[in-house]
Amino acid sequence: MSSITDKSILIIGLGLIGGSIARGLKQANPNQAIAGIDKNTETIALAMNEGVIDQTGELDALCMGSDIVILALPPKTTIETIPHIAACTGPETVVTDVSSVKSAIIESVNKLDQSFAKRFIAGHPIAGSEQSGYEASTDNLFYHRSVIITPQLNNDPGAVSLINALWRQLGSFVLGMDFKHHDTVLAATSHLPHLLAYAAVDVLANQEQSKDIFRYAAGGFADFSRLASSNAKMWADIFTSNSKATLKILDAYVDNLQRMKTFIRQKDHDQLMAVFVEAKQVRDSFLKLHLKNESLLPIELENTQLSVEPGARITGSLRVPGDKSISHRAIILAAIAEGVTQVQGFLEAEDTLHTVAAFRELGVTIIGPENGNLIIFGVGKKGLKAPRFPLYLGNSGTTMRLLVGLLSAQEFPVELIGDESLNDRPMGRVVEPLRSMGAMIETAENDRAPISIKGSPLLGISYDMPIASAQVKSCLLLAGLYAEGKTSITAPAPCRDHTERMLKGFGYPVIVDNSKSQVTVSAGGSLCAFDIDVPADISSAAFFMVAALICPGSTLTLEHVAVNPTRIGIINILNAMGGDIRLINEREVAGEPVADIGVKYKPLVGIEIPRDQIPLAIDEFPAIFIAAAYAKGNTVLRGASELRLKESDRIEAMANGLDILGIDNEVFEDGIRITGGSLDGGYVDSQGDHRIAMAFIIAGLRAKAPVIVANCANIATSFPSFVQVAQAMGIKVTQSLENEH
Ligand code: S3P
Repeated sequence: MSSITDKSILIIGLGLIGGSIARGLKQANPNQAIAGIDKNTETIALAMNEGVIDQTGELDALCMGSDIVILALPPKTTIETIPHIAACTGPETVVTDVSSVKSAIIESVNKLDQSFAKRFIAGHPIAGSEQSGYEASTDNLFYHRSVIITPQLNNDPGAVSLINALWRQLGSFVLGMDFKHHDTVLAATSHLPHLLAYAAVDVLANQEQSKDIFRYAAGGFADFSRLASSNAKMWADIFTSNSKATLKILDAYVDNLQRMKTFIRQKDHDQLMAVFVEAKQVRDSFLKLHLKNESLLPIELENTQLSVEPGARITGSLRVPGDKSISHRAIILAAIAEGVTQVQGFLEAEDTLHTVAAFRELGVTIIGPENGNLIIFGVGKKGLKAPRFPLYLGNSGTTMRLLVGLLSAQEFPVELIGDESLNDRPMGRVVEPLRSMGAMIETAENDRAPISIKGSPLLGISYDMPIASAQVKSCLLLAGLYAEGKTSITAPAPCRDHTERMLKGFGYPVIVDNSKSQVTVSAGGSLCAFDIDVPADISSAAFFMVAALICPGSTLTLEHVAVNPTRIGIINILNAMGGDIRLINEREVAGEPVADIGVKYKPLVGIEIPRDQIPLAIDEFPAIFIAAAYAKGNTVLRGASELRLKESDRIEAMANGLDILGIDNEVFEDGIRITGGSLDGGYVDSQGDHRIAMAFIIAGLRAKAPVIVANCANIATSFPSFVQVAQAMGIKVTQSLENEH
């Protein structure tokens, strides 16, 4: 369904956008069948002459013979034309538009027959300019530009993939968005500036000395007024079609101008300066982030440090953000499922957003995330597309390890790269067993990323993992979905099982033998979309559990937390240290055990950490070490050399910080001994590891003086709202740029 090259395409309206779509498609594939219609007969003749379109003719006949119809018309004309297109296209024809407003279009489509509504996929390329008309069209107008599509739940996922593939063919980045959200965002980012440009030119044109003004109006005025050269009919259409959202932002703007007027009248230099300084900062950082998002490439963000003052009582209720492991898997499995998956509670953090961006580049249409909600239009197991450049996965080990498995089995090549820390983490643990399945993978020295994958047929294996790693298991399960025969993975001890639980939720046959910690899958099945509610992440909750345990007078309820038995090592360990942590209201949500967790202050004692708890608490040791630092006596951890291979060497990084805070400890190759005591203040380096950073902020809660933690920007990889959440819980933590220290 979603290959463009063999489709016949009709473009109605050969202006800047319609003409550029035709040119771009022909440029990518000279054999692409394109018909065109325009009210201007000269334009049609020119387009035929230039070979930009192959044919023209009667609207009804052309509609009937086309696989895709593109309405490249102003919004009002689009709305007027839609009923006719619905009537004259066949039941398989997919129809799309390019207009800058979406609610009015979708409302008009939804009034028509459902069989048409399901094959109308609304779109909007963010690539126009003040120029208009066929003469201004180019073959690269959409290259590396964003295109928003606003598919509906009732849309046919195959039609969504086809429109996604159309824009991909033109070199665009396809973003999914809710149509109402689109109109609010565009009212602010596009419609308002156009209105201001028209208004500014209008004001100046009506001044008595207007000729003189325009004579000197180069520079700023030329920059600012450029948009007033845009197509008048189209913009009149846009403002009347998106009046509600535009009026709202216009009101805010008018209020702001009134405020500025007052400052100017009062000659209030300071107030004006304050507004300008803030606006400049916002715009400068926007430009950086904008570049980052568009290029999928790393950018150096200025690093932050956090400082915490001692003294807090952690009381009340708190829901921390969604589980990172489950969020990653929701995207991955929904992408290769048949049908549309809705996700709520999704973790909006850098690691999981890298997974979203990677799947967008693999040709999957994803709406959101917005307030934790996402809609994923699955492309099926065979529907992923070759990415156009290396997939940059930031700091996210889970994304990289799981994707190596999934992508080894595809029919296209791909390269995976990460940030400095990720490019230094061992990938041999996934690459080796995959190679034994027939995967064609090359790595940098020492089995590190960047990783190049050719894509090849795979054979199932029976694999005994040397370490209890959920990432390795999940990677091989994903490869096993495509491999000939059975793929069976046995772990030396239980480790997190979200992949197998979610596969079952998607209706995929998985055989689990808990007595052997063994999971088996075969190719041949398919995944069927189902809705996922992502519970809160116990790994993020861990910091507040420890905070409540060490701060006298604390009573905390952590709400709706994922308490999968393969993740509750932290609770078992802290309770073994004398903690008071209880599961309340245990329930099951979308195949995962969930509960509220009650935590009360309780003096802790050191213990020897049971080895079987290590895989079940693998990410929580930074927080557990802080509990140990406040516990009476020795806490000893052995058999945990895996901790040296996380985002940092967590044994070394924690030991260094504990040394600085005056806590006696002894480092072993595979663990640490920590002797509890009272903590000094000090300046600790998190080494760019999110969990080390958050752990030392909690450490500061009962220290004798403030604790300052350097290198904290990466907290955004798993818990971007950590500082705000901590402040709301009464923790005196502040954030500043590193160079302000
Ligand atoms: C994860 C598994 C764990 C964990 C990581 C997330 C997952 O890694 O440390 O943060 O989502 O599968 P290992 O499986 O390598 O222990």
